[in-house]
Amino acid sequence: MTVTQKKIYLFANWKMYLDYAESIALANLIKQHRAAVPADCSMVIFPTALALPAVAEIIAPTVSAGAQNLHWLEKGGSTGEISAGMFKSAGAAYALVGHSERRHLFHETNHDVRQKLEASLAAGLTPVLCVGETLAERDADLAVEVLETQLRSAFTGLSWPASRPLIIAYEPVWAISRGAAPEEAGIHCDESQAEEMHVIIADFVKALVPSVTPIILFGGSVRPNSAGGYLAQEHIDGVLVGAAATKIDSWLGIIAATNKIIF
Ligand code: PGA
Repeated sequence: MTVTQKKIYLFANWKMYLDYAESIALANLIKQHRAAVPADCSMVIFPTALALPAVAEIIAPTVSAGAQNLHWLEKGGSTGEISAGMFKSAGAAYALVGHSERRHLFHETNHDVRQKLEASLAAGLTPVLCVGETLAERDADLAVEVLETQLRSAFTGLSWPASRPLIIAYEPVWAISRGAAPEEAGIHCDESQAEEMHVIIADFVKALVPSVTPIILFGGSVRPNSAGGYLAQEHIDGVLVGAAATKIDSWLGIIAATNKIIF
């Protein structure tokens, strides 16, 4: 039997938790600890747009940076917005698209998400499509239907560039935390529940985009003590971490969990 280390994706969504100075400070700590990042691990940090150019420079080349959100137009009269090409020119290589906070707090539709996905691809960014159902949708037995609608809308008829990985983050909205404190964690999504949804997503995406094998990350209150359990699942390729990625100790704890994942 050959034992191989599976490639793991550790993505950190700093959301609006860290200001400019705090972002730079954490980026420097990540740089100092770069030896802790396993060789076959792809790490991407999604900082506030304000700090992205500086963070990208500090963490390169071991770690990449990405946008948390973008506008689908290239340029024009869209006050306050930032385009995919602008992010790319400022040092971003990735972009979160359709994060549940964008969908629910800022009313982004599946159509908006599709436009952002296309704009990211056109600008040369690797989009990370976020999908997930709310608690009400899950309780009404609509989780699979909601995911399929989100995925169909994102990928139908889209020709995927051969050189670009297709990355999806499954983030059940009910599992996402409101902060780093234990009482701010979302409802726990256990690893077998997550794995079951990842299998459904993988099969559905393979039917929509047969040319690529999707990479699927799990997100929702991932903590140092739960990361290993998720990553040990066959269809969970990595994690997208919010609150626990905003402090060096918990982020290092999550990195340490990846060292124990052997297939
Ligand atoms: P969380 O955030 O780890 O704080 O739950 C994950 C996300 O929303 O991307």
